[in-house]
Amino acid sequence: MSSIIESAGKRLTQEERFEKARTLIFPTPAEASARLAAEVADLIRARQAEGRTAVLGLATGSTPVPFYRELVRLHKEEGLSFRNVISFNLDEYCGLERDHRESYFSFMQDQLFAHVDMPPENVHVPDGTLPVDEVYDYCREYERKIEEAGGIDLQILGIGRTGHIGFNEPGSTRDSQTRMITLDRVTRQDAAADFLGEANVPRFAITMGVGTILAARSLVLMAWGENKAEIVHSAVEGTVTDQVSASFLQEHPNATFLVDTAAASQLTRSCRPWLVRSVTWDEELEKRSVVWLATTLDKPVLKLVDEEYNENGVGELLTEQGPSYDINIRVFNQLQHTITGWPGGKKGSDDTNRPERAQPYPKRVVIFSPEPQDAVTSMGGTIHRLVDQGHQVTIVYQTSGSLRVSDVAARKFSSVILEMGEVLGDEGWKSQTSYAASIIAQLDEKGEFGIDPENVRRLKGLILRGEARDASKVFGAGDSTNLFVDMPFYEKGRYRRFHLTDDDVAIVKKVLERIEPHQIFATGSAADPSSVQALCFTALRSSLEQLKEQSWLGNCFVWLYRGRDKRVDSHEIDMAVPMSPDQLALKMDAVRKFQSIGREELSTADQNREIAKNYDSLGMAEYEAIEAFQRWRP
Ligand code: GLP
Repeated sequence: MSSIIESAGKRLTQEERFEKARTLIFPTPAEASARLAAEVADLIRARQAEGRTAVLGLATGSTPVPFYRELVRLHKEEGLSFRNVISFNLDEYCGLERDHRESYFSFMQDQLFAHVDMPPENVHVPDGTLPVDEVYDYCREYERKIEEAGGIDLQILGIGRTGHIGFNEPGSTRDSQTRMITLDRVTRQDAAADFLGEANVPRFAITMGVGTILAARSLVLMAWGENKAEIVHSAVEGTVTDQVSASFLQEHPNATFLVDTAAASQLTRSCRPWLVRSVTWDEELEKRSVVWLATTLDKPVLKLVDEEYNENGVGELLTEQGPSYDINIRVFNQLQHTITGWPGGKKGSDDTNRPERAQPYPKRVVIFSPEPQDAVTSMGGTIHRLVDQGHQVTIVYQTSGSLRVSDVAARKFSSVILEMGEVLGDEGWKSQTSYAASIIAQLDEKGEFGIDPENVRRLKGLILRGEARDASKVFGAGDSTNLFVDMPFYEKGRYRRFHLTDDDVAIVKKVLERIEPHQIFATGSAADPSSVQALCFTALRSSLEQLKEQSWLGNCFVWLYRGRDKRVDSHEIDMAVPMSPDQLALKMDAVRKFQSIGREELSTADQNREIAKNYDSLGMAEYEAIEAFQRWRP
């Protein structure tokens, strides 16, 4: 494969012809990051041999984390020295002290600088603590320092969901320079989990300008996960516009988008491959292209005609498999057969055209919930049916979810205990009262932004446990349904920087070995690969890999439900479980039990309605709402 860093002069292939910037797709972030790190190491070494410096522009966020881990490994295990490296970071929040745990300065220390031998005077991260009237001069000075260092050899970039590079929010012009900016709403929402609430996210930041960034000799923009697929598509295939600052990379002679398969999923070559190459028309592709055609033309599948296939680039399918009516019927039936009110299989029925097997019945079902609210939010209606239809359901709450619980909830709970002690005035309450008082003191001491001490985190986890039990009760599930396993990666970690270990995998494996399920439900590879959901899925995948010789696994179906922020397209659905208005209301009742984390979850009803609406537009029956699943064959 060609170099990532050096792209100048490379021509686009037929397959890439919709792409206006060079784009390399790797199966996983780890593989892409390792390749890039190896090239950066070569650059650094080549410069060392010439007695020169290498000037790197660095980025923060979850995206470059695997890249930095690999650089640190190369330093520790393969003797790569950073003595001749000079770095300039893209941006920094305003108003955070450098040692604030969410400052980009601390981030860079944690991820890279503290682990390699870079001289501290070579490190530059914009200073977000300056008084406003000093910022302008400071920014000019930052630009001057970059020039003095000889300009940036390689600029590493991530991309925000608004299409920003650095913090160049929509509206940043092509020649903008280092400056102070106001953060976009979407950007602040995306950072909300790091700061334990959107209100705590700083409103301003200092960022290198688009012009500063484009002045680098080469640029590599990394993006992982489906969350980024839409914006990567706009930046790579859309027009160049200051509304998507990453689109300016199209005009740079040496810029590369380095993405994983999920982030590439909206590029034409991935989602409509028939437009750029000749494809083998299997069932999956037939379904995908017909659903796309029907959706684009806003027509039910059974009404599509030959001309419409031809005029919209699906003529090849028509020639090979047509006429259109035959194709339409086949796809219609495929879609129809995904719909079932019996997610655990229908007892005693012919299951040839059903998503699940009729036997065995009842089934042992394991539902993995990465954070406690995930399972109910994403598949509450289905849990209700499974319980109702007599299956042995176990909901495995993989993490405690404590990082999501607000201080207010912990304070409320402690205050109640405290008052209870006072009201009863009873000696027996002494230890509870002092426990509650200590929690309140710890909350006061750490303040809004502080890290929760272990005791507070434990209490927050327990509050969520209670809420999870209440939620499952709504579906008539007994307490034995709930299994809390508190995977250690979560208890020890923080958002965007979690680190999965063998201990986590072992916990999942143990649960599966004990239950030997016939059916597993889990969130699939989530929209954001650094998320709790994605790591929990990785743990499941690894444990299934270790268990693959076990005979029960051969008889087990794995169903993936969609995580919160992940859209589901009709063609991807293998099982669609419909809900009546009453069933949806019951599900929402369960979702609302998660009071201590509140907000965001309510959009879940809209998502379920949207899936139903899409099915309806394709010509399926009109349901109030649908929960959707994909069959996964490990
Ligand atoms: C922030 C940073 C960007 C980064 C973006 C995406 O906005 N300023 O440099 O690219 O977040 O973050 P993540 O990599 O976590 O998706």
